Amino acid sequence: MSSTTTSTTHTKKRILLIGGTGAQGQVVVRSIAPGGENSPYSLRILTRDPTNKRVQELYGDDDQVELVKGSFMDFKLVEEYMKGCYGVFVNTDGTVEGPANEVFAGIKLYEMACRVGVKHFIYSSIPYTSKLAGFYTHYDPQHMDTRGRVTDYLRSQPSAKHGPEGLSWTVIQIGLYVENLNDFMAPQILADGTRNFELPLKDGHVFLYGIEDGAYWIRKAFDQKNEYSGVVFDALSEAITGADIAKAYTETTGQKATYTPVDFDAWADSYPRGIADKPISSNDPSGLTWRDNFRMFWNTWADDAILHSAPDLTARRILHPEGCRSVKQWMKSTRYDGTPEPILRLTKQ
Ligand SMILES: NC(=O)c1ccc[n+]([C@@H]2O[C@H](COP(=O)([O-])OP(=O)(O)OC[C@H]3O[C@@H](n4cnc5c(N)ncnc54)[C@H](OP(=O)(O)O)[C@@H]3O)[C@@H](O)[C@H]2O)c1
Repeated sequence: MSSTTTSTTHTKKRILLIGGTGAQGQVVVRSIAPGGENSPYSLRILTRDPTNKRVQELYGDDDQVELVKGSFMDFKLVEEYMKGCYGVFVNTDGTVEGPANEVFAGIKLYEMACRVGVKHFIYSSIPYTSKLAGFYTHYDPQHMDTRGRVTDYLRSQPSAKHGPEGLSWTVIQIGLYVENLNDFMAPQILADGTRNFELPLKDGHVFLYGIEDGAYWIRKAFDQKNEYSGVVFDALSEAITGADIAKAYTETTGQKATYTPVDFDAWADSYPRGIADKPISSNDPSGLTWRDNFRMFWNTWADDAILHSAPDLTARRILHPEGCRSVKQWMKSTRYDGTPEPILRLTKQ
């Protein structure tokens, strides 16, 4: 960790990252500051524990990164960290702080950015599922809706378009990571090597987002503030069925793959491992359980409840191939073989 910044970094635009040590945030960091010295940005990353082994492995030797200690719920402290920053990137974690805190934090962080003179506030969001599905309780996954509520709050705020004055906001929607195909969506590997994707998806489409693809749009938005000011950008990589995930695997690897729709409760009993009936937020012990949250999550995809909101990706795939890879392209570029490789803190534990 560098507690001081080098002389070159002083001339750079400083960005405060919230969630910069997580599965999503570390890819965003690589996108914003590739090549270190050559990046126009220097990074200040909030973490609850700068001495943590994982955090040190990520950034301990990186002199373009300043680690600062604290929780995003400690608003006074975070406001201090925002001072002198050009930009703020926010990926809060509602599975730690709970839904009410996550919504409140999103709003407070924006207000603070406005107050201290930050120029660009980028919020990592997820489609506002229950709203898109008509507020029917069958489709009300808590961990997705909290972000959607903050997105709607931001839509109601002004966003500076030109010149040095005022704060611009941008929302980049990065929903369910395609990388979960290595995690809680990884296939069973049968004795003959067949990959069998067992998901409670029926014949519906699940929205998948590459973390790298999302990070591409976040970098683009920081680079082209005026163009992305006041924009809610859905960085979807593909809305895809279980059968098409298996087909993509076979077409990429030449190996056999199948899709088996499974009963939700049977799935919940095995994934995520052993936590189904625990609360989704560690700070909210009497809150929604993982089982109830993910029942609504899978209902949404299985019934194609928000499929109507998927953006048309035809032009984007041609113009921005690095920011819009199909699941098949992602499998090819990552040499995907279905081997479980947890990316989420929860499944790593
Ligand atoms: N899994 C998915 O497919 C998916 C898709 C889209 C969005 N999300 C959402 O992304 C969020 C999690 O991000 P992730 O996927 O990158 O998970 P992760 O790998 O578990 O990382 C969590 C991040 O949040 C930070 N954090 C948690 N509580 C904090 C607090 N009180 N103050 C400051 N930092 C805090 C952690 O920092 P330290 O530990 O260093 O303090 C870490 O950087 C969740 O809200 C989840 O709903 C997940």
